[in-house]
Amino acid sequence: MKAIVIYKSKYGSTKAYARWIAEALSCEALDAKNVKIEDLAPYDTVIYGGGLYAEVIAGVSLITKNLERLKDKKLVVYSTGITPLDCRDYYDKLVLEKNFKGDSLSYIKVFNFLGKMVLSELSLPHRTAIRALKKLMRGKEKPTKMEKLLIELCDADGDFTDKNAIFDLVAYVNNQTKQQA
Ligand SMILES: Cc1cc2nc3c(=O)[nH]c(=O)nc-3n(C[C@H](O)[C@H](O)[C@H](O)COP(=O)(O)O)c2cc1C
Repeated sequence: MKAIVIYKSKYGSTKAYARWIAEALSCEALDAKNVKIEDLAPYDTVIYGGGLYAEVIAGVSLITKNLERLKDKKLVVYSTGITPLDCRDYYDKLVLEKNFKGDSLSYIKVFNFLGKMVLSELSLPHRTAIRALKKLMRGKEKPTKMEKLLIELCDADGDFTDKNAIFDLVAYVNNQTKQQA
């Protein structure tokens, strides 16, 4: 098995997972900004990681837009975000629907890990966006389940990354045969 981990990370949590996964698989982890689609040709397993921003997995189009070229490889995508892992309904509906169109999920196995959001580290546009979202949601008289979740997310402030969370992904990749995701 020849594997590669590619990541796009603004605040470092997706990069931390990329390093842990690469270490566990004894392979390289590369920043997506240094990777072109042609560079992936020699690998039979491609693992892509991106932080979640407004439910979009940063940079995941490198995989989803090039699926025809990558279909024969074992494809894994992981996202990092602050959505609590027990909010699977939120994750499955919004994130999967938004990022994976058509039958792409029959070729890609997706994992979600907790990331970090340290408010004092956020860029000004990000801090402003979080504040505006919070204000908007707090103004709701009868917030829906989804709106309550968003308020909870805006209040998250900390590093929730967990090295042990990579176990299932690593086990999936180590299971040598290419199977339907
Ligand atoms: C503007 C903004 C939007 C975000 N949107 C989401 C989101 O939709 N879902 C989620 O779970 N986390 C969201 N987050 C949290 C980030 O996904 C989280 O901080 C992640 O760990 C960032 O990855 P990185 O450290 O690799 O950049 C958002 C954070 C910011 C600043």
